[in-house]
Amino acid sequence: MTGTFNTIIQLIYLAAASCFVLGLHLMNTPATARRGNQVSTAGMVAAIAATFALVIHDNLISVTGWIVLLAGGLIGAGIGLYMARSVKMTAMPQLVSVFNAVGGGAAALVAVSDYMSAGSHIAAATSITTLLDVIIGSVTFSGSVIAAGKLQGLITSAPVSFPGARVVNVLLAAVAVGVGIYIIVSPSMIGLIVVIIAALVFGISMVMPIGGADMPVVISLLNAFTGTAVAMAGFVINNTGLIIAGALVGASGGILTKLMADAMNRSIGNIMLGGFGSGDTAAAVVGAEGASVQSIAADDAAIQLAYASKVIIVPGYGLAAAQAQHEVAALADLLESRGVDVSYAIHPVAGRMPGHMNVLLAEANVPYPLLKEMDEVNPEFARTDVALVIGANDVTNPAARRPGTAISGMPILDVDAAKSVIVIKRSMGHGYAGIDNELYTNPKTSMFFADAKKGLAQLAASVKTLVG
Ligand code: TAP
Repeated sequence: MTGTFNTIIQLIYLAAASCFVLGLHLMNTPATARRGNQVSTAGMVAAIAATFALVIHDNLISVTGWIVLLAGGLIGAGIGLYMARSVKMTAMPQLVSVFNAVGGGAAALVAVSDYMSAGSHIAAATSITTLLDVIIGSVTFSGSVIAAGKLQGLITSAPVSFPGARVVNVLLAAVAVGVGIYIIVSPSMIGLIVVIIAALVFGISMVMPIGGADMPVVISLLNAFTGTAVAMAGFVINNTGLIIAGALVGASGGILTKLMADAMNRSIGNIMLGGFGSGDTAAAVVGAEGASVQSIAADDAAIQLAYASKVIIVPGYGLAAAQAQHEVAALADLLESRGVDVSYAIHPVAGRMPGHMNVLLAEANVPYPLLKEMDEVNPEFARTDVALVIGANDVTNPAARRPGTAISGMPILDVDAAKSVIVIKRSMGHGYAGIDNELYTNPKTSMFFADAKKGLAQLAASVKTLVG
């Protein structure tokens, strides 16, 4: 009977794992991403139900334990649901970071609890996976709290470091690993506490020197850490579902981190050690030195757009900062109603988080088929009458094509191949990489200096009044 029961539980875990893999696959394209989320959620519900059944069947929890479990589950789920529903799109990286902190912290606590309840069997509870769980989970917890604090503005987003910081980091890592190895040989609760403290301080000192703008990549890396810690927790309590779910999060977080770093043409090491960009566009340079910039008024820009046969819209961080997604969708609708062929060029790292532009435009119900990825859209620029760049800077900068600049080698959108380019932004201010954009001084380019939201509304109004 018990054998059959256990087999059923393992089969449910297998089915749940299949849902996770299928869900991840469906998240490959915006069109099926929602379904991917639903399939993964179904898998998670099945896995949680199977775990409850297992706990009840094997009578693993006391009455007090049930009260704590249910109260914790209900309060946690309530807070999670509220946060997920009320969070603004621009605050999503902070939310992910808080979730990482909770995941990493919970995984570490699983190992600590296992260790504490081992009593005289403490030697058996002290395994490599227990220690990896504690170390990775603790680093993830403190690192993610700092990352969320930086993005939320609770902690300065500027890199914070001091002379010898790297030596301190190496020492902390050595203490965590060294004492960890020692307590495998000679188990001790005090040793475990030392490991936890060293790992927590390491998490803080790892993230503090990284600038706020690089934080999305760090959060993705911490997400991979969370998954790894959870997989280790699965080994600690011998739960297959947890091992598979954790491994999938670890692997996908790792791949995403690598893809983001590649799309920025930077190594993960370079990001962790602090590279370019403070993420502040506030240090605006009004008028690049010696370069002549052509500015354009709303009416002239509107006429160019209204009489074009093909327009490609290039959204960037400024569109998100201005929350102008509805205005751009309205302008695109207006142009389409006049027979203009309108599409959107999506650079993989436009904005400040993976898929930023896709999510932003989906909020304004822009149809998915109009969103074109970089490789697909680049050959189309040469056949385009107007490329309308809205709050995008680095991802359009031709300086990336030659060596010796901060963004050399970063793949860019070939906006300058279009017959005419209109750029909407507030000033000649830099983007994330902190360098001048050569596109702005190209004779084909006209700058429409405005906040994206106001500028787009002005353009739509001009199109209506000038050409009906
Ligand atoms: P950026 O190069 O950061 O440029 C954004 C531009 O938006 C700024 O030059 C700014 O110019 C303008 N802007 C800001 N607020 C605006 C507003 N209210 N209205 C109109 N314009 C506004 O953006 P991008 O081209 O999207 O490139 C993204 C950068 O972020 C890349 O360098 C990428 O490597 C980096 N990054 C991306 C990610 C991910 S995963 N997406 C993660 C980390 C870093 P003004 O101040 O003159 O208006």
